[in-house]
Amino acid sequence: MRKKVSIVGAGNVGATAAHWIADKELADVVLVDVIEGVPQGKGLDLLEAMPIAKRDVHVSGSNDYAATANSDVVIITAGIPRKPGMIRDDLLHTNFKIMSDVVAKVVAQSPESILIIVSNPLDAMAQTAYRQAGFNRERVIGMAGVLDSARFRAFIAEELNVSVENVTAFVLGGHGDTMVPLARYSTVAGIPITELIAPERVEQLVQRTRDGGAEIVKHLKTGSAFYAPSAATVEMAEAILKDKKKILPCAAYLDGEYGISGYYIGVPCKLGAAGLEQIIEIKLTAEEDAALKKSAAAVKELCAVIGV
Ligand code: LAC
Repeated sequence: MRKKVSIVGAGNVGATAAHWIADKELADVVLVDVIEGVPQGKGLDLLEAMPIAKRDVHVSGSNDYAATANSDVVIITAGIPRKPGMIRDDLLHTNFKIMSDVVAKVVAQSPESILIIVSNPLDAMAQTAYRQAGFNRERVIGMAGVLDSARFRAFIAEELNVSVENVTAFVLGGHGDTMVPLARYSTVAGIPITELIAPERVEQLVQRTRDGGAEIVKHLKTGSAFYAPSAATVEMAEAILKDKKKILPCAAYLDGEYGISGYYIGVPCKLGAAGLEQIIEIKLTAEEDAALKKSAAAVKELCAVIGV
């Protein structure tokens, strides 16, 4: 039997995630949204593209969570996106209400599912979903690090005029201004970028990565990024659906790892059929450790505001 992925939120991120999943023939897809007609229309449109794409997956849309029953993975993108001038944290109260409501409905239909949280502010929304779902931490994972690392990788590949396939990068911490791109662990064909790019230039690429989301919002004006966020989400879903045991930077609930307890923060995670199968602890320099702790403090502050 084919796997089933439900996507809550049929906006740009949700619908584009559906597109990537269908195009990779990973699973049947159900799009859900509160707006009448939009998930149905986008779902049907995508279904009709399958003969051309040569993919045998079923895609549909609904306003009713019953359609999501028994999903293997549920991707939650529901919430309002940023407008120019807003930071992710400005979305906190509105998206907290939406996330709490959505997760209760998702869990009622798919008690065995693995949740991938995409809504912003990411780390606090992952924490909200974790508390509301009552699942163990293996089954509630936040998407941010894959996106932030992909941005860093794109900038490094462009800078050095090399294939993006040669570039690996690591971004830890919260998905916000305090994210921690680790230049030391970012490589081109195995060579640390610190040996290939001057320190001041590395710092500029790091800053562009931190501002990556805002740079897109500034261009689009009416919303935020969606191609890279959805591609990042689907890389995580694929690792789970195919039990790949793939190590990706994700937001995970820490229970003492990296000296942090009780919060979601971006760390290297192994994703497989069980969801979060392992948190990889790498040795950080004092400076990196301080940056990660600062990022965790920012997440903690947000979580306190909404009481999760
Ligand atoms: C971004 C938003 C989606 O980073 O958080 O583009």
